[in-house]
Amino acid sequence: MIPYKNDDWTDFTVSENHQDMKESLANFESELGREYPLIIGGERIFTEDKLVSINPYRKDQVVGKVSKADQELAEKAIQNAYKAFDSWRKWPAHMRADILFKSAAIIRRRRHEFSATMVFESGKNWFEADADTSEAVDFLEYYGRQMLELDQGKTVISRQDEKNRYFYQSMGVGFIVPPWNFPFAIMVGTTVSALVTGNTVVLKPSEKTPVVAARFIEVLEEAGLPEGVLQFVPGDPKVIGDYIVDHPLIRFINFTGSRATGTRIYERAAKVHPGQKWFKRVVAEMGGKDTILVDRDADLDLAARSIVTSSFGFSGQKCSACSRAVLHQDIYDEVLQRVIALTKELKVGNPADPDMDMGPVIDDIQFNRIREYIAIGKEEGELVLGGETDDSQGFMIQPTIIAGVKPDARIMLEEVFGPLLAVAKAKDFDELLEIANNTEYALTGALLTRSREHIERARHDFQVGNLYFNRGCTGSIVGVHPFGGFNMSGTDAKAGGPDYLLNFLLAKTTTENL
Ligand code: SER
Repeated sequence: MIPYKNDDWTDFTVSENHQDMKESLANFESELGREYPLIIGGERIFTEDKLVSINPYRKDQVVGKVSKADQELAEKAIQNAYKAFDSWRKWPAHMRADILFKSAAIIRRRRHEFSATMVFESGKNWFEADADTSEAVDFLEYYGRQMLELDQGKTVISRQDEKNRYFYQSMGVGFIVPPWNFPFAIMVGTTVSALVTGNTVVLKPSEKTPVVAARFIEVLEEAGLPEGVLQFVPGDPKVIGDYIVDHPLIRFINFTGSRATGTRIYERAAKVHPGQKWFKRVVAEMGGKDTILVDRDADLDLAARSIVTSSFGFSGQKCSACSRAVLHQDIYDEVLQRVIALTKELKVGNPADPDMDMGPVIDDIQFNRIREYIAIGKEEGELVLGGETDDSQGFMIQPTIIAGVKPDARIMLEEVFGPLLAVAKAKDFDELLEIANNTEYALTGALLTRSREHIERARHDFQVGNLYFNRGCTGSIVGVHPFGGFNMSGTDAKAGGPDYLLNFLLAKTTTENL
């Protein structure tokens, strides 16, 4: 087995790569509006009622139409997944892992096709879409290898005349509910982690990005995933979400998305329904109010670049995005000016154009929400850049910075999920840390400093699941930066980490009296 290594991002300055991506975008454009079925028990089902996926940069452009499950189809999907579980769980782990490795190989060959899909469906620019595709490949390669390791079990002590074994077994039917902001990577990671551990899956992709998911199912089929192991059930969360979460045959739920939905799932899953024989396990990875702290002795250029990249990459729509910069009073003016200057250089427009830094936000709901927060921010601080919005053609919001904000302002505490940065001042390092910890979220954060002592204090006292020193707070890499948050950011499942698959396995001990 070749050791795990991250998939390289594409260098688009190489003209062949540039050309390939352009062709993939043109090919995808020629297929706009294609219809995709839902899949239950291997059967492709086209329904009247469809999810219509649109291009957030051109809201009149239909990216694809995906058949929608109602409760009856959701029930059928769960029953099929339950039926398939007994044979799938007995597949040797290496055969299940091979399906992941084969899928990774297929995606590597078709990588620009998937990236192009995301450019149209989620408004990612070339770089962000390409990184999303690489992350999907990484999850496949990494979890495949992790399963091979876990399949060995762990050593426990045997005694004379007593043989003990400790190993892992599959759980059952998992309900997988991925987000729209990493519509390929997180959808792939959450789905294949359940599959490779021998569980069967009911997958409900985000209703905002179902097309990239539908195309991934084709990859799994090509790689040899047996019929019935995965049910693809796009649908309206209000119609099928609770129904599936509540179902007594569901064994675990893996959700990534908003805090409101994650909390709802967590609460509902706690109830044991008639016919249910287990406590459901819930993995819920939710929001963030992620902070970059800049200490008085920091490299100010690095600080400004880190803040701008982390705040405005993919229009601030990463759960890891920096939405608050807290600057030591001694360097506040200097860093703020540099952040403004760098942000002014960002090119905002059509993400299909090769050199675009920022595209649209995902939809009208987010567009309106971010606008409201900009208005709130203007009351709470000084608008120093941006603020303009335009939804005449797509959902465009200029990168926006509100400075001089108090630590307890709403835009310092509430998750916005858009290109809106709040900037606050702290009088010393203690206050920097105090502000960093003043929200209910605890996902990512960064500290820029030259002080070894401050790094060590932050390591223990800056309460987040992923803490970075002297860099930005986005862009975790599978197998390198296991990802997940504390507190209201989630269950700290640490996607892309060595313990992740254990979330979907039961540990078993056998003792044989010899
Ligand atoms: N893993 C992503 C990042 O670190 C967020 O989901 O940016």
